[in-house]
Amino acid sequence: MKNDILEVLVTEEQLRNRVKFLGEQITNDYKDKDLILVSILKGSVFFIVDLARHINLDLKMDFMSVSSYGSSHETSGIVKIIKDLQVDIEKKDILVVEDILDSGNTLNYIIHILKSRNVNSIKVCTLLDKPLKREVDVNIDYLGFVIPDNFVVGYGLDYNERYRNLPYIGSLKPEVYL
Ligand code: IMP
Ligand code: MG
Repeated sequence: MKNDILEVLVTEEQLRNRVKFLGEQITNDYKDKDLILVSILKGSVFFIVDLARHINLDLKMDFMSVSSYGSSHETSGIVKIIKDLQVDIEKKDILVVEDILDSGNTLNYIIHILKSRNVNSIKVCTLLDKPLKREVDVNIDYLGFVIPDNFVVGYGLDYNERYRNLPYIGSLKPEVYL
């Protein structure tokens, strides 16, 4: 698995420090709110469970699954809900937790859907941002790291469902996915 990694872009220590920082920021910002963390499966799972441990508030967590990629590394622009939320989000303060913002199509669609459900507020927390590939504008409220336009894996992010359990974020050697 490690042989397929070209370069480590974000180390375990950088992840740990940044996630703690974001958790503390969210704790401060949501003191008087009714926070629900909404994670987009499966890429953001490692991130949300680490993040939630650093949010010192009474919160709820829920999971949503959408498909936008198939097994390829290129965005399709087509987003479909595979699994919807189970908790009631009406009048709640929603923080959507994503692994990576690439074209922006996935988050744009999810925000659009959630906004239509009468929420009190909706914000976005993404671990990674690849701004060079953006097709639609998405406002990021909490950001982990800006990365170059490489295909990355690890800490939840996959290629064909592999590499999610790498403890760091690394770029994949092009020969693996081309
Ligand atoms: P977007 O709709 O193009 O912004 O794509 C967002 C989704 O594509 C993310 O939630 C990931 O699941 C996936 N994705 C985009 N870039 C990468 C990458 O470099 N590695 C792994 N998954 C990625
Ligand atoms: Mg994702």
